[in-house]
Parts: sequence; C-alpha cells; structure tokens
Amino acid sequence: MALFGKKKRDKDTILFQKKEERMIGPNLSFSAKESYNLLRTNIMLSLPNNGKCKVIGVTSADAGEGKSTTAINLAYSLSQNDKKVLLIEGDMRKPTIATRLGLRQKPGLSNMLAGLSDPAACFRNSNISQSMTVLTSGDTPPNPSELLSSDEMVKMIEACKDSVDYIILDLPPLNVVPDALVVSNIVDGMIFVVRSDFARKAAVTEALRQLEFAKVKILGFVLTNTNISSKSYSRYGGKYGKYYKYGSHYYSTPNAEED
Ligand SMILES: Nc1ncnc2c1ncn2[C@@H]1O[C@H](COP(=O)(O)OP(=O)(O)O)[C@@H](O)[C@H]1O
Ligand SMILES: [Mg+2]
Repeated sequence: MALFGKKKRDKDTILFQKKEERMIGPNLSFSAKESYNLLRTNIMLSLPNNGKCKVIGVTSADAGEGKSTTAINLAYSLSQNDKKVLLIEGDMRKPTIATRLGLRQKPGLSNMLAGLSDPAACFRNSNISQSMTVLTSGDTPPNPSELLSSDEMVKMIEACKDSVDYIILDLPPLNVVPDALVVSNIVDGMIFVVRSDFARKAAVTEALRQLEFAKVKILGFVLTNTNISSKSYSRYGGKYGKYYKYGSHYYSTPNAEED
C-alpha cells in the first residue's frame, strides 16, 4: 500500500515537472508564446524609446499567481527580439527561477548585496537564450526587504544598466511582504499578475492600492491560467474590468496545455 502511494507521488512529481518545463520560453505552446510576445510588444511601446535600459518589476497580490513564469517568459521573449536582458530573482523568500531554469541558486543577489560574493560569480547564462542572463537569489537572507531597498541594490542596478536593454525583476506578492514596494524607486514600471481561477477581488484591490500609494507606474496586467477559447473568459473582463482605470494594458497568457 505504502509502495503504491510512493509510486503515485513519484508519478505526480514527474507529471508536474513536465508541465513546468512546458511553461518555459522555448517549450511554450504557440498561443502561449504569442501571448508573451504581445506582452513584450506592448511593454516596449509603453516605455519611452530613449535607448536607456528599462527596469520592469513583476508582482501580484498573492503567491502562486504566475509572477516567476511571467518574468521568465517576458525576459525570454525580449531576448528573442535581439534585446539583452537581465532577469533578477528578486523573490529571495520563495525563489523558483534558478530551479526552473536548471541553474545554480548560490551565490546570487543576497550574497552580492551583502558584499560576500564577487558579482562575477553571481550572474549566469539562462540556458535558454544567449542574450538572457540570470541573477539568482542566492542564500535566503533574514532581511530581504532591507537588502532590496539598500544603496547597494541601487548601485548594482545602475551598473547593470550599462550592459543590458531590459532588467526584469521577479518580486514577492504584495499582500504578503513589502518587497515590491521598496523597489519602487528603481523600477520604471510594474507588471501586475492576476491568476484567473484564484485571485480574490479584495486582495487585488488592496495590492493595487499599495502600488498606487507608492506611485508605482503599472505597465499592465497579465491574467494567467486562462482558457481563451472558453466563453467563461469574458467574465473576467467584468470581474477585473474596473482596474482599467489604471490606464494599463491587459493581457492574458493561456494555459500552456492548450494550443
Ligand atoms: N499562464 C499560465 N497558465 C497556466 N499555469 C501557469 C501560468 N503561469 C504560471 N502557471 C503555473 O502556476 C504555478 C505558479 O506559478 P509561479 O510563476 O511560480 O507563481 P508565483 O511566482 O506568482 O508564485 C506554476 O506551477 C506555473 O507553472
Ligand atoms: Mg515566484
């Protein structure tokens, strides 16, 4: 009986890993790829074309809404458009990017900001695109918010701007920790991710209130895990429709299982 349970768990883990692999850049379904390319185009159009590097944060109200997936795929899509991209695993509490891209987690951002590691040891190629570099989160620090709001973080971002066109900063959820707000001075704008079958209206409202208070420019909303062929999709327009008042674009990234 116990053996049967273990076998099922192993099978579930393998199926989950396969699904996660299909959610990453080169492995995405055609329609999902197109959605991220549309997101890329609109993000590029919504920021001034002055030749300077742009810093884009990715956040949501709660955990598990698709921030890291969106950050990876936006970074990948930009890199496929001849842009040099740095993807930063800024969620030092629940990092997933290194694992999902098969990269070494340590040393990384936390070690570098604390002055414990040579920056050269912390940046690594993404494995999926030559022009996409990843700064992994490193060891989990006791004080992620302090590190993200430190002068060292500002200096590091400024230094990176010289060598890339875009910096994508994957952040923790707003209603859990303040990390996404403490970087408001270094981001040019924020992408707000909403999981269609999961996000609570009150949680989204509260998170957006915080961003508005911190005067963060919201570049757009990404609705994840949608079934765009489904008629029920249209109801999300009504459910979240009022957020258009932020003057932002609204995209949906379909479930990778669909094509
Ligand atoms: N557009 C999407 N369609 C279907 N599943 C998605 C989508 N975006 C993310 N996911 C899945 O949702 C789960 C949580 O995603 P993740 O990006 O890690 O969320 P977060 O970083 O917000 O915690 C993962 O299993 C991921 O594969
Ligand atoms: Mg994440």
